[in-house]
Amino acid sequence: MLHLAGKILFLCAFVGYYAKAETEEQLKQIFVDILLKCSEDFPPTPAEIELLKNKKLADSTNMKCMFACTYKKTGMMNEKGEISVEGINNLSKKYFANNPEKTKKALAYADACKSVNDVKVSDGEKGCERAALLFKCTIEKAAEFDLIN
Ligand SMILES: *[C@@H]1O[C@H](CO)[C@@H](O)[C@H](O)[C@H]1NC(C)=O
Repeated sequence: MLHLAGKILFLCAFVGYYAKAETEEQLKQIFVDILLKCSEDFPPTPAEIELLKNKKLADSTNMKCMFACTYKKTGMMNEKGEISVEGINNLSKKYFANNPEKTKKALAYADACKSVNDVKVSDGEKGCERAALLFKCTIEKAAEFDLIN
């Protein structure tokens, strides 16, 4: 159950950008592992998993914090609860070293979503509110760039 939840969460949050990457499996595994770890601290309810299947994040602190946990552990978000463009660039350099096309898309994604750092949030460096904004931006941009198929 948890394993499935992790896969679903990963798919919704990230795979749109990196589908078909050469090292997709490797990156996917890292995300699944991190999500599973974070879902132990912030366990999703079955209803919340259902929502995620539809690429929607439940409006619960628990789910938002689960994504904050995940984004922080991957380096996409820094300790201050801000989107880290550098962290996203590092990920893309690491996993798409030989794939300029994917690197470009990752950069465009980071650039398109970094504006969530300008939004005022109530929970500061916990980053849960901002993680929800990043989730939303990720889903929207994935659709906009036509990267989900
Ligand atoms: C990105 O990588 C550089 C070089 O390895 C490192 O110094 C820096 O701390 C990394 N930044 C983040 C946010 O992961």
